[in-house]
Amino acid sequence: MARVERTRAIVVERAGGPEVLAWSEVELAPPAAGELRIRHTAVGLNFIDVYQRTGFYPPPRWPHVPGLEAAGVVEAVGAGVAGLAPGDRVAYATSPSGAYAQRRNLTAALCVRLPSGVPDELAAAALLKGLTAHYLVRRVFRVEAGHTLLVQAASGGVGTLLCQWAARLGARVIGTVSTEAKAERAREFGCHEPIVTTREDFAARVRELTGGRGCQVVYDSIGKDTFDRSLECLAPRGLLVSYGQSSGPVPPFDLLRLSKTSGFITRPTLFAYTSTRAELESGASELFDLLASGALRQPIESRVPLAEAARAHRDLESRRTVGATVLVP
Ligand SMILES: NC(=O)c1ccc[n+]([C@@H]2O[C@H](COP(=O)([O-])OP(=O)(O)OC[C@H]3O[C@@H](n4cnc5c(N)ncnc54)[C@H](OP(=O)(O)O)[C@@H]3O)[C@@H](O)[C@H]2O)c1
Repeated sequence: MARVERTRAIVVERAGGPEVLAWSEVELAPPAAGELRIRHTAVGLNFIDVYQRTGFYPPPRWPHVPGLEAAGVVEAVGAGVAGLAPGDRVAYATSPSGAYAQRRNLTAALCVRLPSGVPDELAAAALLKGLTAHYLVRRVFRVEAGHTLLVQAASGGVGTLLCQWAARLGARVIGTVSTEAKAERAREFGCHEPIVTTREDFAARVRELTGGRGCQVVYDSIGKDTFDRSLECLAPRGLLVSYGQSSGPVPPFDLLRLSKTSGFITRPTLFAYTSTRAELESGASELFDLLASGALRQPIESRVPLAEAARAHRDLESRRTVGATVLVP
């Protein structure tokens, strides 16, 4: 009978602050049928990890190992796995969580093979955030030349890729950031007009920049603090994409408010846009081509040992990060 092994992982016993992220030893069963055993080389840090840790998005059970994104090397395959073998490089951006570990088992069909032009670290920094940018600019709304759009948190992990991708498609990209330094960085990554929100009201500035017309699409990942004024930034029949709540959940909303612009609202999730293998593969292959050619850039701005994930969470929550952080297992 195959042996149960042990590995190191961040284990969370109960919802709470960053201090609940404990570096522990856990059991690792042999990969079941259809599963891969992956040795992680780089783990992605995402704001959704914070929502899970605090219990805002409760995990299916406690204790649990957080993390939805990583890259690594296949160590072993379970029965019935075709097309992947030990030694292959793979990455994933998916539930169930469990990425904050040195090694784990995961259903092979949820993983994608990494092309030679995409290093493991880049995949861990860009797969979840890049698939998100992909479905936001290509599927939730088809961004085209001539569109004007607003990206909240333009220098964040998703924001960095979203601005570049939209600019590449020919759109005029307005973004929000909280500091001058973040504005500089946003400009470097495709945001044509960063607005520093600690200095000016972004809705008023968007009106000014668009001659009073507003934006065809607003991508809002901040939630509570920005939702109301994001609505004010919509052009007639514009779309508000509320895809996150870094500042807290959006309170209940009076539908009649949309009548002012005949606007639309959607609250999408990545996992609804990568629910079939074909969707996952087509998004990942478009993303990997752009990353490998350098057309999209996601530099790793910070590397933190996985054992110190609590520090990485504190930095992300207190708005000290830009771009992507990678946890090193
Ligand atoms: N629905 C989906 O499919 C999906 C998929 C991936 C990510 N997301 C969402 O997209 C957002 C971005 O994720 P990310 O991992 O790339 O994080 P991130 O944008 O790198 O980090 C959050 C940023 O939000 C801004 N922010 C404004 N108010 C904040 C507050 N009160 N607390 C914390 N941050 C605040 C900060 O930028 P400034 O200081 O410049 O304001 C901060 O740096 C998250 O809300 C996440 O849940 C959604």
